[in-house]
Amino acid sequence: MRTNAVDLGFKRGAISECIVTTYNSRKEPNAAPIGIYFLSNSKLLMKIYENKTVKNMLMNKECAVNVVDDAFIFLKCILNQRDFKYLKAKKINAPILKDAKAVLECRVFDHKSYLKRDEYGECKIYLFKLEVLECYLLSKPLPKVLNRGENAVLEIAVKFSRGNYDIKKELEIAKRCLSHKDYKKLIELIKSNLKLKF
Ligand SMILES: Cc1cc2nc3c(=O)[nH]c(=O)nc-3n(C[C@H](O)[C@H](O)[C@H](O)COP(=O)(O)O)c2cc1C
Repeated sequence: MRTNAVDLGFKRGAISECIVTTYNSRKEPNAAPIGIYFLSNSKLLMKIYENKTVKNMLMNKECAVNVVDDAFIFLKCILNQRDFKYLKAKKINAPILKDAKAVLECRVFDHKSYLKRDEYGECKIYLFKLEVLECYLLSKPLPKVLNRGENAVLEIAVKFSRGNYDIKKELEIAKRCLSHKDYKKLIELIKSNLKLKF
């Protein structure tokens, strides 16, 4: 079913966390969490550090923005457990996540790069402006309750992606607010990828 970015909750001035999927030169799918800036229902913006997604987007000029409400998908991307199932997009040369709730099929219409200096040194950032060609729901739009434990899982993913492994506070919230099954899943996922002590 067709929809649009506003109805999906994208807002001007906010950063919406999504999973961006692309193909590499061998047509292998890649999935990465990226913050999306909403410009209008037909235009989005991304700021991306040099990574595989940038390489793929410079090559194909197309990507899918997957709206996902499962924080574990974000964490799995960061821990390189990207054992996801993919589907073909309708209009673009990019895969889409089978588990996405909604998809925005996008084409790059402008991009530039600049150098950013901060306490970690100098890095190159790519600014991509995207045109939304298609926006549709993949599954029935049922509401999902807020859960602080899932937000903590998302924060853990952000910290790991920045090389920060001090997740004591987030783990406390996850333990208190996630179901026992999901907390166990979180610990197993982290333990199988990182040598962290609990
Ligand atoms: C919630 C979340 C949001 C993120 N947003 C961005 C972003 O906007 N730009 C960026 O460069 N990296 C972002 N990252 C980090 C990338 O997802 C991470 O560097 C990833 O490993 C890149 O994967 P790739 O090399 O396969 O493209 C984010 C990570 C998380 C967990």
